Amino acid sequence: MTTRRKVAVLISGRGSNMRALVEATRDPGYPASIVVVISNMADAGGLDFARGAGIATEIVPHRGLDRAAHGAALDAAIRKHGADLVCLAGFMRLLDPGFVEAWRDRLINVHPSLLPSFRGLDTHAKALAAGVKIAGCTVHFVRADVDAGPIIAQAAVPVRDGDTEAELAARILAQEHRIYPLALRLVAEGRVRVEGDRTIIGAPDATGSLANPSTP
Ligand code: GAR
Repeated sequence: MTTRRKVAVLISGRGSNMRALVEATRDPGYPASIVVVISNMADAGGLDFARGAGIATEIVPHRGLDRAAHGAALDAAIRKHGADLVCLAGFMRLLDPGFVEAWRDRLINVHPSLLPSFRGLDTHAKALAAGVKIAGCTVHFVRADVDAGPIIAQAAVPVRDGDTEAELAARILAQEHRIYPLALRLVAEGRVRVEGDRTIIGAPDATGSLANPSTP
């Protein structure tokens, strides 16, 4: 097998997407390995899982640092572990534009909406308030604007009558755990080409379509 890409995963909280990525890398055929999990929060729940999995962890607090200084500290922690791809997985700090540019097309994020709809926070509440019948999640390359950048993969789920935010979030999160490892695989294999605001991917597309309500 060719050399695996070395990935840093940045988290702020429970880290379930980080966990999905770590679990994917347990397949020896997977083209990437997680070399470090970095958090801006010392009490991020996901850190315990990473430590238990034998993965190096770093705490890079944002408190007391301006955005550029925090970006520089993150960059140093990433490079210290030799990573050349970065996955944001529930990393809830706005990143320094210089950091984003330095990692252009090597910095990936997962977001719990079908971008470009519902950027920012409270995406599930926004989707329910808008009355959409289909919601979902997106994995994308990061640009300086919040939740913007070329889309690598998306998954859609139905919104059901009476859904609570928690129910919709759980349905979407299950899909995040499916498409983030898939998107990282495609990027690590060099199959994702960025053309302007879009990506071109040499992979078979999903067949069929999702309609909600489904037709009888
Ligand atoms: C995930 O739903 C992720 O999409 C979202 O935070 C959650 C983190 O969960 N990220 C964003 O909203 C970024 N804009 P996790 O810590 O269990 O992976």
